[in-house]
Amino acid sequence: MITEQERDWFRSYATDVYSGVGAIVDLGCFVGSTTISLAQGLRANRIAGATKIHAYDHFVWDDFIKAWWKAKNLPPPDVVDDSFLPEFLHRTLPWKDQIIVHQQDLTHVQWQNGPIEFLLVDAMKSPELADSITHAFFPYLIPGKSYLAQQDFAHFYTSWIHLLQFRLRDSFVVAADIPKSGTVVFRYHTRLSSAAFSDLSLSSAPVEEIEAAFEYSLRLVSDDKKPNIVAAKAMAYIHRRDFDRAREVVEANRWGTTSLAQELETVKRLIRQQTGNE
Ligand SMILES: C[S@@+](CC[C@H](N)C(=O)[O-])C[C@H]1O[C@@H](n2cnc3c(N)ncnc32)[C@H](O)[C@@H]1O
Repeated sequence: MITEQERDWFRSYATDVYSGVGAIVDLGCFVGSTTISLAQGLRANRIAGATKIHAYDHFVWDDFIKAWWKAKNLPPPDVVDDSFLPEFLHRTLPWKDQIIVHQQDLTHVQWQNGPIEFLLVDAMKSPELADSITHAFFPYLIPGKSYLAQQDFAHFYTSWIHLLQFRLRDSFVVAADIPKSGTVVFRYHTRLSSAAFSDLSLSSAPVEEIEAAFEYSLRLVSDDKKPNIVAAKAMAYIHRRDFDRAREVVEANRWGTTSLAQELETVKRLIRQQTGNE
């Protein structure tokens, strides 16, 4: 589910930048693309090559993943009792000594392994997951050292990520906008206050905050991601069932109609379906 550009970036990071002062954590590891890229990179890292990657997923073979697998025409996966953990273990076998697997529902998670130097997040699939991941892992980021990769930053569905990064903007700065992908990597520079975690309420933000958050996100990314950010903004209103505002957002788009994975089209279709125009 990730692109060659993302794999390259994660590999290079693990070889050239990662210093070993904190853990590497991969949230939503699926069948291992992100984990393998990091493990390959680590092997070439002269100072921190012995580090293990903490790979998290609940490994549930759900309808969304089934449909994705079928659409990609992949060979039958190793799934046992609706768990794709066997497929993950099979694919990551050559790097198994570098990986600590956590079969875990990330809505109920605690981290007890000290500072985190690299946090790759590909599991903020709901406001609740964004909330629990933020509470469990962000306090362990190291100011001036850690990186946070938000793999779904340019995905249309996960609109709450924009609110989250907007609220935490005084602590993060963009370190990389990985081309042809959903990923934006942030560098963590200033420790978050405890107030930042008090009540994220990502599903019930005021409209003014949604508008400000997406203005901020649009300033952060390259032009090729901007139509996807517009799609995510429209989706923020679809999630609130404000379809008129969602339509206004896509109609006001001035960044062109070409979006990654045609997500702008997906959002327009959703608006048409919801308003009975299709
Ligand atoms: C888009 S996929 C990640 C792709 C992956 N990073 C890769 O390298 O291909 C999202 C993953 O999040 C996981 N996930 C979704 N909800 C979860 C939850 N509540 N707890 C743990 N994992 C979850 C899914 O099982 C899925 O593997």
